[in-house]
Amino acid sequence: MLKKPNTLQYDVPATAMIEAELPVHSEERKQQIIQQIKQHLKEQNAVLVAHYYVNPDLQKLADETGGYVSDSLDMARFGKEHPAQTIIVAGVRFMGETAKILTPEKRVLMPTLEAECSLDLSCPADDFNAFCDQHPDHTIVVYSNTGTAVKARADYVVTSSIAVDLVRWLGEQGKKILWAPDRHLGRYIEKITGVEMVRWQGECIVHDEFKARSLKDLMQQHPDAAVLVHPESPAEVIAMADTVGSTTQIIKAAQTLPHEKFIVATDKGIFYKMKQMAPGKTFIEAPSHGEGAVCKSCAHCPWMAMNDLDKLLHVLKTGKNEIFVDESIRLDALKSTQRMLDFASNQCL
Ligand code: 13P
Ligand code: SF4
Repeated sequence: MLKKPNTLQYDVPATAMIEAELPVHSEERKQQIIQQIKQHLKEQNAVLVAHYYVNPDLQKLADETGGYVSDSLDMARFGKEHPAQTIIVAGVRFMGETAKILTPEKRVLMPTLEAECSLDLSCPADDFNAFCDQHPDHTIVVYSNTGTAVKARADYVVTSSIAVDLVRWLGEQGKKILWAPDRHLGRYIEKITGVEMVRWQGECIVHDEFKARSLKDLMQQHPDAAVLVHPESPAEVIAMADTVGSTTQIIKAAQTLPHEKFIVATDKGIFYKMKQMAPGKTFIEAPSHGEGAVCKSCAHCPWMAMNDLDKLLHVLKTGKNEIFVDESIRLDALKSTQRMLDFASNQCL
């Protein structure tokens, strides 16, 4: 059963406009900023945890300073286990909130607090609670790309790297499942596991733009390329994939598949790490325009694009943009988030 398409309106900035507003520096100035950031990280016992979709300068900095670049599951695990007193999360807000849910004793800062996620925005807690109330006998599984209050209502949180395994496991126990908020990922999970779910109808505005017909044309131009797809993409795009998986799983596929060329349907920020992990291979962006449509995010998340060196230095200098979560909902959100980590470690993921 599907929840009626969400009629909630939210603003989606165009990525090109966000990028046009970012300051441009000479190489010399950029290096000065990087040195200052490194100094602050050391002095403040802070660690930088970045998602694969953010600016390569930030990913490089995280790597060079003992921080971490990864998918949302591993970002959460790393932040929890690292001894630093301050975690700087370069990504979108739900990632910062997840770090705070798991480690309330630490200071969690983000380069910007304006970095939303369309999945989170499409699933406000009040509407979600009303939806859950209609299905009291269902086990509630939510994607990590949600706010703390939604996680607090859930029985389980998952990321794209474990969603299929967890739903299959619940299905084997005969559980009825309510899924939120990504409609494409929900449909994909149902198809792979055969477990029917009551589904929320949110979407990632980046992956939703990938176009199946244009992808088919591109595949004809590159018949030797393997197609790697994130499961937030439309079903017709997923159907054309050689590998469907989380960002880390996509990178692993690029390393392990015998192909020399890949068409990649996920945010193009990932190309920085892919090129590093699979050097010499060729990566081609999957089409997000064509078929009479123009793209707005054009394979790069506008909210991820807000993260830059200047904002990072600013928060380190000022201590601004700290993440706080309400303790009364944090404890419930911790239960569902901790179940995700426990499930992942039991599966050796
Ligand atoms: P991953 O968990 O695969 O990194 O996905 C997070 C995300 O926001 C994808 O759009
Ligand atoms: Fe959310 Fe999509 Fe951006 Fe990921 S890429 S943070 S799912 S809007």
